[in-house]
Amino acid sequence: MAQYTIRINGKEHQVDATPDMPLLWVLRDILGMRGTKFGCGKALCGACTVHFDGVATRSCSLPVSAVQSSEITTIEGLSENGDHPLQQAWTEHVVPQCGYCQTGQIMSAAALLRENPSPTDEEIDNAMQGNLCRCGTYNRIKAAIHTAADKK
Ligand code: FES
Ligand code: FES
Repeated sequence: MAQYTIRINGKEHQVDATPDMPLLWVLRDILGMRGTKFGCGKALCGACTVHFDGVATRSCSLPVSAVQSSEITTIEGLSENGDHPLQQAWTEHVVPQCGYCQTGQIMSAAALLRENPSPTDEEIDNAMQGNLCRCGTYNRIKAAIHTAADKK
């Protein structure tokens, strides 16, 4: 066990953890931030996506010892009032079905729009291909990303 200081959504947290504990465990089990989801635990599904210095990253495969001096953003910190253009577009297009994958989808989409404010269908497919949705909401996700891009 060691103590780590990690910066999440603009706030510093001190946590006791083993160096190889995945950030996802820290978020959910130590800090009680349950918006980020556990899916596969193997960097395959995207449910656990957060931003690591602005880059969409799988928190299930990111050891806590690697995130010090970095800025982590989770779905809880994406906007103050749930009013990020993507969150508004998600509501407008009624994107979620079961909802389980949607945190990861939105975080990956947010990282995409930060890099590329007006992505094509192909660019969206490329950026989002690692985020799986068992409910098959892919078409609505794509439409919502275009809507959010138009609002930015
Ligand atoms: S839980 Fe991290 S990619 Fe699936
Ligand atoms: S909305 Fe159910 S897994 Fe994506």
